[in-house]
Amino acid sequence: MSDLRFDNKVVVITGAGRGLGKSYALFYGSVGAKVLVNDNGCDLDGKNTNNKFADEVVSTIKSKGGIAVADYNSVLEGDKIIAHAIKEFGRLDVLINNAGILRDKILAKMTDEDWNIVVKTHLYGTFSVCKAAWSIMRDQGFGRIVNTSSGSGLYGTLGQTNYAAAKAGIVGLTLTLAKEGERRNILCNVLVPVGASRMTETIMPPDVLTGIDPSNLTPILAVLTHESNKEYNGGIYECSGGFFSKVRWQRSEGVSLDLPVKISEVQKHWAKINDFSGKNEYPTGNADLFNKVQENLERLEQQAAQKPKL
Ligand SMILES: NC(=O)c1ccc[n+]([C@@H]2O[C@H](COP(=O)([O-])OP(=O)(O)OC[C@H]3O[C@@H](n4cnc5c(N)ncnc54)[C@H](O)[C@@H]3O)[C@@H](O)[C@H]2O)c1
Repeated sequence: MSDLRFDNKVVVITGAGRGLGKSYALFYGSVGAKVLVNDNGCDLDGKNTNNKFADEVVSTIKSKGGIAVADYNSVLEGDKIIAHAIKEFGRLDVLINNAGILRDKILAKMTDEDWNIVVKTHLYGTFSVCKAAWSIMRDQGFGRIVNTSSGSGLYGTLGQTNYAAAKAGIVGLTLTLAKEGERRNILCNVLVPVGASRMTETIMPPDVLTGIDPSNLTPILAVLTHESNKEYNGGIYECSGGFFSKVRWQRSEGVSLDLPVKISEVQKHWAKINDFSGKNEYPTGNADLFNKVQENLERLEQQAAQKPKL
């Protein structure tokens, strides 16, 4: 497959002044897109602001012949970010929600402020920019959105209750948008990246950081956000250091018990409930569980009908 281009496409990337977002912006700027480089330039904990990071990325893109504009709004004001993109470029095709901060603390030391600012920046910020972009993408019948989660959101990480909760929330938000956007050609996916940035530079050795250069994350963004992607929607992609994979839910075969359910019956079947070696399923919606409930109720009805009447 030839390399993908984004000529005349308008791409908004939040948190694009540094780290992963900067790599994304440089990439889109190099393949013909008009890029809105959003970044409020805050410290890792969300304090202070600085316009220079977005400005520097814009200068780099322009110095290589690309088209980019800096935007310094916080992601908490998604409407301003999207309005800025429309004012500058007249349209919007791709949105990468990437901005983020950290306030890592064990639960016992987590203050309400630490919780609120992290959840608000990641989860509300992603919602806010998606919401502002949505009506434009819906009305034009085209949009590609990638929202950023984390292994913490999928699996939990010590000291990150705030961040993990927000990142898990982004998964639920994105999977729902994927269902809402499908009919309008708005495809929404989740990226679960690991890449060298100020978020990882203190916890990983230099040789590992070199191996996880964020520029290696841009090819999957290209594939997911290009107009040639007509199929891949509602996916969760884990990527780092040249490794790419898709994550999904798995349900054990489980058991369907007689009603009313007795504790002793749950205990008796506990191993089976927890066993993933049987006939597993990969649910993708609430209906999958309702089907199980329906099947069990029908089984119980048939069982009752077969019982000899005294
Ligand atoms: N680096 C990793 O390995 C890793 C792993 C998992 C998930 N992530 C996620 O990837 C994304 C990028 O992380 P990174 O490592 O590049 O971090 P980073 O700190 O290097 O960059 C994040 C950028 O977001 C900006 N930002 C923060 N709050 C903002 C706000 N309210 N409005 C606008 N801009 C804001 C910051 O100024 C910063 O430039 C984050 O969502 C992060 O949680 C990163």
